[in-house]
Amino acid sequence: MVRIEDLFSMKGGGSTGLGSYMAEGFLAAGAARVYITARSEDTLQAKAAELTGMSDGECVGIPGDLATLDGVAALSSTLHEKEDHIDVLVNNAGIGTGGYFEQMTVEDWDKTMDLNLRSPLFLTQALLDLLKKNATDEDPSRVIFISSVAASEVFKHVMAYSTSKKGLEHLTPQLALALCDDHILVNSIAPGRFYSEMTRGAWENPDSESFKQSLQRIPAHRYGGLEDMAGVAVMLCSRAGSYFTGEVLNVDGGHRLRF
Ligand SMILES: NC(=O)c1ccc[n+]([C@@H]2O[C@H](COP(=O)([O-])OP(=O)(O)OC[C@H]3O[C@@H](n4cnc5c(N)ncnc54)[C@H](OP(=O)(O)O)[C@@H]3O)[C@@H](O)[C@H]2O)c1
Repeated sequence: MVRIEDLFSMKGGGSTGLGSYMAEGFLAAGAARVYITARSEDTLQAKAAELTGMSDGECVGIPGDLATLDGVAALSSTLHEKEDHIDVLVNNAGIGTGGYFEQMTVEDWDKTMDLNLRSPLFLTQALLDLLKKNATDEDPSRVIFISSVAASEVFKHVMAYSTSKKGLEHLTPQLALALCDDHILVNSIAPGRFYSEMTRGAWENPDSESFKQSLQRIPAHRYGGLEDMAGVAVMLCSRAGSYFTGEVLNVDGGHRLRF
């Protein structure tokens, strides 16, 4: 008989926004230890302490800048010192650089691609030995990329951002195939509009006409939040998600249907 608690339990194992929602979800689902990373150390350590305080597991903050290859190498080295294996890697950090083609600078393009596309690939490569260590066909390790609904539409004003996210979505099946013999599942979550620092400008005045109109464009008539993000991340990393690989899961309340 299938037991629901087995389908969704995760035993073993971002300072704000979607990363913190997923970290909270993993801890609530029974993960022993969850590492989060960010550049601002105070916010990071406060979130790590808050999440540790609300669960039986432990949340550990490792400060660093994932936009640089040195930052990727430093995070990998710290994790190698602390753990002999990892079960789940979520490549979440991303930057929503705006800008139209005419105003595009090399700096903006590189900044976006470095954090949104290059780091997820090379962090996964740097942690591959830890991800492989305990992975089996019955209990595979997981790599998750955080894409965006922006990958599915032509967003002229965030050209670099949407292109980077489309790239991530193409990388997903490529890496899924490359890592299948290592028993590692690779999937992307493509969020629509979620409450976070990145979107604060859009939702912080909930009575504004522009916010109300933006809700009307979303078939679910609301922004996504903690449970929406935590739920899908926990599902992908639990027994319930162990037959998904190379997949992009749109978690957008139907947003992409109304472009
Ligand atoms: N919110 C949405 O509606 C939405 C929709 C679609 C996709 N997404 C994607 O979801 C992911 C998370 O976004 P969010 O909305 O949760 O944004 P957020 O609230 O701004 O959080 C971003 C997190 O990443 C960290 N971070 C940013 N740059 C970093 C860097 N260079 N190195 C290490 N950490 C860094 C931030 O901390 P520090 O600033 O201290 O480094 C923060 O903890 C992104 O990939 C974004 O593209 C979000």
